[in-house]
Amino acid sequence: MLRYHVTTFGCQMNAHDSERIRGMLEELGLGEAPELEQADVMVFNTCTIREKAESRLAAHLALAKTIKDADPGRLLAVGGCFAEVQRERLFEQFPQVDFAFGPGSIATLGEWLAVERNGGASGSFGTGAQRRFAAELPGRRERAFQAWVQISMGCNSVCSYCIVPTVRGKEMSRAPGEVLAEVESLAVEGVREITLLGQNVNSYGRDLTAVERTTFAELLRACNRVEGIERIRFTSPHPKDFRGDVIAAMAECDSVCEHAHLPAQSGSSRILRAMRRTYDRGRFLALVAEMRAAIPDLAITTDLIVGFPGETDEDFAQTLSLVEEAGFDAAYTFVYSPRYDTEAASLPGQVPEDVKRERIERLIELVQATANERNERRVGGVEQVLVEGRSRTDDSLLRGRTRRNTTVNFTGRSEPGELVAVEIEGATSTTLRGREI
Ligand code: SAH
Ligand code: SF4
Ligand code: F3S
Repeated sequence: MLRYHVTTFGCQMNAHDSERIRGMLEELGLGEAPELEQADVMVFNTCTIREKAESRLAAHLALAKTIKDADPGRLLAVGGCFAEVQRERLFEQFPQVDFAFGPGSIATLGEWLAVERNGGASGSFGTGAQRRFAAELPGRRERAFQAWVQISMGCNSVCSYCIVPTVRGKEMSRAPGEVLAEVESLAVEGVREITLLGQNVNSYGRDLTAVERTTFAELLRACNRVEGIERIRFTSPHPKDFRGDVIAAMAECDSVCEHAHLPAQSGSSRILRAMRRTYDRGRFLALVAEMRAAIPDLAITTDLIVGFPGETDEDFAQTLSLVEEAGFDAAYTFVYSPRYDTEAASLPGQVPEDVKRERIERLIELVQATANERNERRVGGVEQVLVEGRSRTDDSLLRGRTRRNTTVNFTGRSEPGELVAVEIEGATSTTLRGREI
């Protein structure tokens, strides 16, 4: 039996796509190799959101080349966002690659493999007739009780720093009937927690026909009615599209978790305008206040960028103060990275590397302090935890996540997939500690 190995970079969308790549390869009769070194078919599902993603990939592809040089029978396929922006150029840069495919044409990997195994051609890029939802392919989930559910692909926003719209194309919503059918069959299979996925989940449905037209709030309510699904998460919403109906649905639906990942990007209205985010600091904070008022105990996490072109000390100070004012429970912090063909890459006032470094260090410090303080408030309380497995650092402890999406390491006897009550005894900036009761 031929064996495959998939290495995944990037966001949850890529994690979801990789599950579909695995499912498709297994349907073709391949088995999974635990390590790259043992795989006949080596697949890399790539990301291009920041420059660092690419330098990491280059190192991995160099290793794949060494493996291929020793055993030329192995196949190397590169998919995902980096492959999509590079297209044919990829083969010049990395001649060891046999096949490349974009995020909208995952199925072409299976088609190519069927030909290649009978002596087909190498060095081609998979072009599907049209973009297809990865969700249509068979999937192989990492955990039996948790699942990603793709609700849309692409992005219609025009954030001036971001390459995603170029790579993933215009936003296309998946038919609500298909989404629900998937959620229902997942529930039957024993899935208890779903995460609805899209680049901008809150604009879901706007492109559907009048007959199918469903808003994101309606989709949340429909998922909430599915028996057996006890936790519903979603990522990411865009603050500009986060309307009252979604807040009301979050507040009313028992299964929708008390967590929103709400990417702010910056605390400066001037920078937000240059980023083309279409909200300003005041509107963002008003939204946070509205959400907190409607959903008691809500956790809000965010994404922040430092060093966007033209960012002054004063703009950066506004981002720092936003972290305090909004009270983020966690934040992913990024150094601005110019991407090809994006508007921001050619803006004047690119910020020097040392200034970016100094700013990100200060931001991380503040984010950690804020997160730590918010986690400390949970100590003494009881949280519902979905058990995921053993603690990553201490094998004697179990690990799981609260409804607010915080990782908890705890003593107890429960099994992965169980929902248990855990008394919280300690906190760090990223985790809680406790004991099952
Ligand atoms: N669609 C999602 C996330 C897209 S990418 C959303 O809008 O929420 C994830 C994060 O990467 C973004 O939120 C942003 O903070 C960051 N990012 C995107 N492009 C970037 C760039 N050129 N440099 C640095 N960070 C970037
Ligand atoms: Fe990129 Fe903005 Fe779309 Fe998110 S909303 S994927 S940051 S363009
Ligand atoms: Fe990266 Fe593509 Fe996701 S660029 S962040 S893998 S949409």
